[in-house]
Amino acid sequence: MNIFDTLLERLAAAEHVAVLTGAGVSAESGIKTFRDPGGLWAKYNPAELASMDGFMANTELVWSWYMHRVETINNTKPNPGHKAIAEMAEIFPKFTLITQNVDRLHHRAGSEDVIELHGNIVENYCVDCKSPYEGETNLPDKQLPQCEACGGKIRPNVVWFGEMLPVKALQDAEEAASTCDVFFSAGTSAEVYPAANLPIIAKQAGALLVEVNPNATVLSQYADIKLKAPSGKALPEMMDKYKNFIK
Ligand code: OAD
Repeated sequence: MNIFDTLLERLAAAEHVAVLTGAGVSAESGIKTFRDPGGLWAKYNPAELASMDGFMANTELVWSWYMHRVETINNTKPNPGHKAIAEMAEIFPKFTLITQNVDRLHHRAGSEDVIELHGNIVENYCVDCKSPYEGETNLPDKQLPQCEACGGKIRPNVVWFGEMLPVKALQDAEEAASTCDVFFSAGTSAEVYPAANLPIIAKQAGALLVEVNPNATVLSQYADIKLKAPSGKALPEMMDKYKNFIK
C-alpha cells in the first residue's frame, strides 16, 4: 500500500482529526511568512516589533507596523488551503483547528471554533486596564488610539515574544493533540514553542503525524507522512481524493 493510501485509510477510520497551521498556509494569499527567505523576520527585528519592551520603547512605530499588516491582510482573501481546512470540519466526525496565525483568514474561509494560539490582529486592548478596545483604530497619521476607560495605550491582541499564550487556547490545543487520530502540521516551521510541541504530543499519543510543507522543517524527521507541496495545492487535492475514497 502506498503512503498516500495509508493516509486515506487512517482518515477514514479517524474519529478526531486536528490541524495546526502556521504562516505558510496564508502564503498563497499573499501574506509573508516569518522565517522564509524574504520573510518578516528577515526584514524586521522581532524584539522591536513583537515584544512589550519594543512597544513601550517605540509605540508609534510598532502600532503603525501592525496597522500596515492589518491593511495588507484586509486586501487578501482565503486561499484553497484555508477552504480545504474549513471543509475538513464538515467531513470528519470531530475536528480541531489550531492556528498560530493572527490574520483571521481561517474565519473568513468559514472555519468556526478556531483555536488562536497567538491571538489575532483584528482585536485590540488596553495595556493598562486590559479592557477590549472597540473604537476607531485607523486614526490620522497612524496615531495610537487611547483606552476609552482609562486613557491607556492600545495594543493589538497578539502574543508577543516573552508573553504567555492564552491559557484556555493552549489547554484546548494540547487536549486535541493528545486525543486526535490524525494530526496535520501545515505551513509552520515548527520552531516556536509551545505550538511546536503539539505535533510531538500528538505523535507520542499515537496519532498519525502528517506534515504539509514544500520545505523540510525540524519536524519533518518525525512526520509519518510528508505532503511536500504548498498547502493551497496539497490540502484540496487530498480532500478531493478522500471524498472519492469514501464514496
Ligand atoms: P514561519 O515563517 O516560521 O514558517 C513558515 C513555514 O511555512 C515554513 O516552514 C515554510 O516552508 C512554509 N511554507 C511557505 N509557503 C508555504 C505554502 N504555500 N504552503 C505550506 N507551507 C508553506 O511561520 P510560523 O511557523 O507560523 O509568532 O511561525 C510561528 C510563529 O513565529 C508565528 O506565529 C509568529 C512568529 O514569530 C508570533 O507572532 C507570536
